Amino acid sequence: MYYRRPLFWVLVIVVCIFTLSTLSHLNNGPSPLSLTSWNSQSKAPAAYPLPIRPGPPTTRFKDALLPDHKYIFTFPNAGWTNDVMNVATLLLLGILTRRTPILSPFHPSHIGKDASLIPFSKIFDIERLSAELHMPLVEFEDIKNTSDYQHDLDPVTRGYYGGETESMGCWTLWPTQAANGAGARSLAQDSLSLDLSFTPIPFGHEIEKPYLHWNLHYLAELAFPAGRKDGIKQAQSFNENLAKIMSSKPNNKDAIPEPRKIPFPNKKGEQIDPDEQVACFDFVYFTGMYKGGTEWWDESSPIWHLVGRHMHWAPLIKSLAIEYVSDRLGIPANKRDGTMPPFIAVHARRADFARVCPPRPREECLAPLSAYTRRVEETRQALAAKGFQNTGPEDLKVIMLSDEPKVTPTMETDRLLAPLYAPGSAEAWWKSVADQGWFWIDHEELNSVSKHGKWYTMLIDACIQSAGIGFVGTDRSTMSSIALRRTEEWNNGVGSLVRWGRPDSDAH
Ligand SMILES: *[C@@H]1O[C@H](CO)[C@@H](O)[C@H](O)[C@H]1NC(C)=O
Repeated sequence: MYYRRPLFWVLVIVVCIFTLSTLSHLNNGPSPLSLTSWNSQSKAPAAYPLPIRPGPPTTRFKDALLPDHKYIFTFPNAGWTNDVMNVATLLLLGILTRRTPILSPFHPSHIGKDASLIPFSKIFDIERLSAELHMPLVEFEDIKNTSDYQHDLDPVTRGYYGGETESMGCWTLWPTQAANGAGARSLAQDSLSLDLSFTPIPFGHEIEKPYLHWNLHYLAELAFPAGRKDGIKQAQSFNENLAKIMSSKPNNKDAIPEPRKIPFPNKKGEQIDPDEQVACFDFVYFTGMYKGGTEWWDESSPIWHLVGRHMHWAPLIKSLAIEYVSDRLGIPANKRDGTMPPFIAVHARRADFARVCPPRPREECLAPLSAYTRRVEETRQALAAKGFQNTGPEDLKVIMLSDEPKVTPTMETDRLLAPLYAPGSAEAWWKSVADQGWFWIDHEELNSVSKHGKWYTMLIDACIQSAGIGFVGTDRSTMSSIALRRTEEWNNGVGSLVRWGRPDSDAH
C-alpha cells in the first residue's frame, strides 16, 4: 500500500498534464464542446433483459407479459413536447411504483396523420436511458404486433391499428382534472388496438387550484394493492363530487352531465376495474411532485433530475442534427469529427402563439427580433464569463429555429393565421433574421421530408435546439423550456427565455 503512493501521484500528474493539453488544444476553437455530454456517446450500457416472454410479439400484448411481473403504462395525447413530458412522468411513476414502464409510440398530432406513429426508441436513446435509470424499458412494439398487411397499405395506419382488440381497465385522470364533464384522453387506444374501460381518479388530490395539476404520488399509490382498492371504492362517488364542484364554480357554463356508470364502459360496453398487473393511466402530463405548473423547469425539479436529463436523443437524430448544423455553418469535410460544432440556438415561437394576442396586434404582442438579439448578446457575455473562448459573432454563429412561415399566410393557405398577418410580414421577419447574419435550416429547400420522413423536420429542429452552447428561447413555450434545460445540463451552456405579450414585456 505504502509504496504504491508515489505511483499514484505520478499518475495524477500525468492525467493532469494530459487533460490540460487537451483543454488548451480545444480552446483554439470556440469552446471545449466535445467534453460535454451532448457529444458523448452512450457508455456501453448495461443491458437489462426485458421482463417479457421471449420471441416475436403476437397480436395480443397480454401474451407477452410475465405472470409475476408488474408494469405501468400511459398514452400520448397532446402536442409532441407535452407527450415527451408525459412519458417522463410515466418513467418517474415506474421508479416510484417499482413497475416496468411500457413506452407508447408517439402520435403525429401536429405533424399530419400520414406521418403515422413513431416508436419511442426512434427518438430517444432507449438503451442509454435504461442504463442511466437502472431499469428495463419495454416498448409497446416489443409486446404487441399491431402491424398487418391491410393497415400497412395506408400511411395513416402504417405499423399500427392492427392486431387483436384487447379489453382492459385503466385509470383516467382527465375527467377529474378538467371537472367539466370531459371524458378520458384516450386518443391512442385505437392505434394500439385496445378497448379501454376507465375508472376516474377520485377527487381531492390536486396540488394546484383550480384542479389542474395533480399529485403524482397519489397516482403512484393507486398502483399498489391497497391504494388501488381504496381508489376503486372512492371512485364510486365521482358523479356526486363532480356535480358538487361544477355547481360551486362561479359562471359555470357547462351543463352538469348525467351520472355515468363507474367504471366508464368501453366500446363493447364492458366495465373493467383498473388492471392490477398493468397499472394504466390515460394522460399524466398535468401532474407534479410538489406544486405542478412550472415544476418541470425549476432548478430543483424532481422530474428533470431523476428522469428528464437522461432522455438523450437517439443516435440517428443526433447524427442528422450534426450534419445539418455542420452544413449550415459551412464546416469543411476535413474539419468534421462527428461532434456538434459550437453555436447559439434561438427558438422564436410565433405562429400559433400569436393566436392568443388579439385584440392586441400581433407585432405589439410577440417579442420583436431585437429582444432575441439582446439576449443573444447577453448569452455571449455569459459564455465568456463561464470560460468559453471566442464567443463573439465572428466565431460563434447563431441558428434561428422558428415556426414563422417563410411565406405570409393568406386566406387560401391558412384561414386561422392569415387574419393576424400584415401583407409581406413573414418575409420581412426572415429578412431581418438574415440581416443580422444569423442562419436557419430551411427544410423545404433541403427536402428533409422526402429524405427522412415527416417526423424528422421537427425532431431535427428539437435536437438542434438542445445542441448549442447557448440557447435563447420564447417564454411559455414548453419546447423552449426543455431546450434551455438540456443546453444547461448537457452542454454546460447558458441561455434565457424572451418574455412577450406587450411591447415592453422583455425589458430587463
Ligand atoms: C407482425 O405481423 C405481420 C402480419 O402477420 C407480419 O408480417 C410481421 O412480420 C409481424 N411482425 C413482427 C415484428 O413479428
